[in-house]
Amino acid sequence: MTRFIFAFVSITSLFGAVSYGATPSDQSDAEASTIFGGKLPPDYRDWKLISVAHEEGTLNDLRAILGNDVAITAYRQGKLPFPEGTIIARLAWNYTPSEENDKVFGKPQSFVAGAPKEGVQFMVKDSSKYASTGGWGFTEFIDSKPVPQNALNGCFSCHLPAKASDFVFTHYAP
Ligand code: HEC
Repeated sequence: MTRFIFAFVSITSLFGAVSYGATPSDQSDAEASTIFGGKLPPDYRDWKLISVAHEEGTLNDLRAILGNDVAITAYRQGKLPFPEGTIIARLAWNYTPSEENDKVFGKPQSFVAGAPKEGVQFMVKDSSKYASTGGWGFTEFIDSKPVPQNALNGCFSCHLPAKASDFVFTHYAP
């Protein structure tokens, strides 16, 4: 059944590319954007916590970095490079003041996760499939839908400075 769905997704994405008059390179782009068969991994929200982060400036968000079991085991063992099958997810939410919590504290100090923003981003380790991007497939979902491949072109280049840690910035929070 799973195989059938995968086949269906790749066939439809191929037809999609063709019907939009895409060039051969666009076709491979369409394929690449179907990491996870173009669907959010159903269980990613249950993955374990690697760390949290807060970006200020224009992003102004709260984020959580989660890993599947392969990722968590590698992190805990300090294993680098990350093994095949590692998946790391980056979730982000609006950095939102909480009046409800502030009332309890008696002063404005509480910030919580508001609406989801900046999509859900993933890095998937498959050294042969994604050899040209350090062995990582990069993908992003906004409102549960995969973004087009051209929106992913800048992912790997921006992760290059983290080469010493296998292109992953986030350290395991103690
Ligand atoms: C402007 C540079 C930049 C771009 C572009 C970028 N990232 Fe990142 N990414 C970072 C930095 C820095 C972190 C760690 C801090 C954080 O989480 O904000 C990070 C964190 C991540 C993480 C958590 C694992 C880690 O490396 O810490 C994932 C997963 C991720 N990014 C995926 C993506 C995907 C997918 C794209 C493309 C859609 C992308 N990133 C584009 C800089 C970037």
